[in-house]
Amino acid sequence: MNVLNWKSSPNGPLRGTLRVPGDKSVSHRAMMLAGLADGSSRIEGFLEGEDTLSTAAVMQALGVRIEADQPGVRIVHGVGLHGLKGVGQPLDCGNAGTGMRLLTGLLAGQAFDSTLVGDESLSRRPMGRVTEPLSAMGASFSTEDGRPPVRIHGGKALHGISYTLPVASAQVKSALLLAGLYAEGETEVIEPHPTRDYTERMLAAFGWPIRFEPGRARLSGGHRLQATDVVVPADFSSAAFFLVAASIVPGSELVLARVGLNPRRTGLLQALRLMGADIRVENEGVSGGEAIADLRVRHARLKGVELPPSLVPDMIDEFPALFVAAAVAEGRTVVTGAAELRVKESDRLAAMARGLQGLGVVVEESPDGAVIHGGRIGGGQVESLGDHRIAMSFAVAGLVAEGPIRIGDCANVATSFPGFVELANDCGFSVADAD
Ligand code: S3P
Repeated sequence: MNVLNWKSSPNGPLRGTLRVPGDKSVSHRAMMLAGLADGSSRIEGFLEGEDTLSTAAVMQALGVRIEADQPGVRIVHGVGLHGLKGVGQPLDCGNAGTGMRLLTGLLAGQAFDSTLVGDESLSRRPMGRVTEPLSAMGASFSTEDGRPPVRIHGGKALHGISYTLPVASAQVKSALLLAGLYAEGETEVIEPHPTRDYTERMLAAFGWPIRFEPGRARLSGGHRLQATDVVVPADFSSAAFFLVAASIVPGSELVLARVGLNPRRTGLLQALRLMGADIRVENEGVSGGEAIADLRVRHARLKGVELPPSLVPDMIDEFPALFVAAAVAEGRTVVTGAAELRVKESDRLAAMARGLQGLGVVVEESPDGAVIHGGRIGGGQVESLGDHRIAMSFAVAGLVAEGPIRIGDCANVATSFPGFVELANDCGFSVADAD
C-alpha cells in the first residue's frame, strides 16, 4: 500500500485566492450518465481524483470510450442505456463508496453479471442498504455478509417500488433511481431528510423525465438518456478545509473561487456562522445548473455551539473539519444525530475523537456524536486511518497546534483532493512529507 505520512506545522496567516478541484459527487454521476447516454458528452471540471478515476475506469471496462485530452476534461462516447458489455473480471471501485453504491444500482438492471470490488476501507462498508431495496425491485446479489465484493446477478426483470429510506443517503437514493431507469413502472424514493439531488438534476439534464422535490423523487423506466455537456463546480467539501483553516488562523483571509453551493451540501457554512465565523458569499452565479459563488473567509474568534441535528445531512462529509474548528473554539461544541459518520471511509467519530484526544483536546465520544471542549491543540502524532478527510482535517489542525502534528497514512487524500498539499502550502500551510 502507498503510505504517505505528513507533518503539518504551525504557520503564519493564510492568504490568497484558490480554486479547489471539481465536485466528486457530480463527477461520478456525470461519468455514469454520459456513459449510458446516446451520443457524446463533454464533462468539464471532472475531478482527477482516484475515486472518480475508478468510476471512469469501470465505465471504460464496460465498453464506454472516454477521451481525456486535457486535465479535468472528458469526452464520453455514450453507448446507450442497453449498450454496456459485461466483463469477466471484477470491477474495481477503489476507495469510493459513491462509485460502488451507484454502480450497484446501475448494474442491477443489466443483462450480464458483474462483480464490484474495493480497497480495504470500502470492503468494510455496508452495502445491504442498497442491495436490500434493489432486491425488492427484483435484482439479485451476493455479498460477504452485506459487504463487498458485491456480485450482481444480471438478467433480472426489475420493477419499480416506492421506498422510504431509513437513513438519509443520497447514495442509496441514487442507486434506486439508476436501477429505476431499467425498471418496469415507477420507482419512488422518499427521504427522512432531503439529501443532495445531483442524480435527479442530472437525469433531467440528460432528458429523462423525472419528478422531484426536496425529500422525494419519482421516475419510470422506458426512456433514453440524451448526451449533454456537464460543467462540474468546485467541490464544497474540499473548500471546507480552507473555510475552517482561515477561520482559525489569526490574520487570515482566503477566497475560495467558484464553489458549488447546492443547499444540501453547505451545512458547514451555517455551522461555522453559528460559531461566529466570518464567511461572505460573493459573485453568486449559476454554472452547469448549480449555484456557485466565491467564498471569502476571514479569521474570527469561534465559539462552541450545540449543533442542530437537522444540519447533519447537509454537512455529512464536513464533520472532521468541524471537529477541528470546535477544538479551537471557546467553549464546548455538541454534536448529536451523526451515527452515519461511523460507516464512512473510516469511523470518523472515533478517528477524530482519538486523534484530538492524542493532541490533548478533551473529547467525549457518544454513539451518535461527541462533545468537543475547545481551547488549545497540542502537537503530536495522529492516524488518518487511510481516510482522506481525517488526514486533511489534521493538516488544518497543525496550523494552530502548539507544535507540529505528524499524520500517518495520508495517501488517500488523492481520492478526493489531488494537489491538496501544493494548494495548501501556496496559501500559507506548512505541510511536508514526514518520512
Ligand atoms: C454522496 C453521499 C453521501 C456522502 C458521500 C457522497 C453522494 O453519502 O457522504 O461522500 O455523492 O451521493 P451517503 O449517501 O452515505 O450519506
